[in-house]
Amino acid sequence: MRKIAIFASGSGSNAENIIRHFSDKECAEVVLVLSNKADSYVLNRAHKHSIPTGVFSREEFSNGEKVKSILKESNASMIILAGFLLKIPELLVKSYPGAIVNIHPALLPKYGGKGMYGIHVHRAVVENQETESGITIHYVNENYDEGEFIFQAKCSLLNSDNPEDVQRKVQELEALHFPTIIESIL
Ligand code: GAR
Repeated sequence: MRKIAIFASGSGSNAENIIRHFSDKECAEVVLVLSNKADSYVLNRAHKHSIPTGVFSREEFSNGEKVKSILKESNASMIILAGFLLKIPELLVKSYPGAIVNIHPALLPKYGGKGMYGIHVHRAVVENQETESGITIHYVNENYDEGEFIFQAKCSLLNSDNPEDVQRKVQELEALHFPTIIESIL
């Protein structure tokens, strides 16, 4: 059985969907949820499902060693970034080749890069009067949002959609696809 660690910085709706999805599967299980924010709601969600959690500072994370040893202890062989906002240090990218996966709430390569996360992405999409948005699930390398694509899904936008409307449509796609795409690449 493949062991999955989830990194998340915020609410954790994707993390919880993934935990739920694999809770009754033989192929994989979520063994750890890590966050850089001690007050992030994702930690409550993990506790609810009795998943061990850990918190690290930005400085601890950028060095990589501490997180690498936590991951090793949990025997995690795959890392899922589910709304995680820090750049992955080279040490981790090299230690988990082809085994770190991110979800981005837009159709990369548009609306990616530093500062493009969460509602900021949807605001930019609305400002540019895009007629569609969507999700990109991709492997992670040393640069923000630049790793090889695994999957994209689109949603249509209306002229009247505000950033929150776009976010809701994108979150629906995330819930629908992220757990099953992870399962397909285990
Ligand atoms: C998700 O929409 C995810 O795609 C996005 O953050 C949100 C987290 O929501 N990720 C990024 O913007 C990464 N650049 P959640 O905490 O409810 O899963």
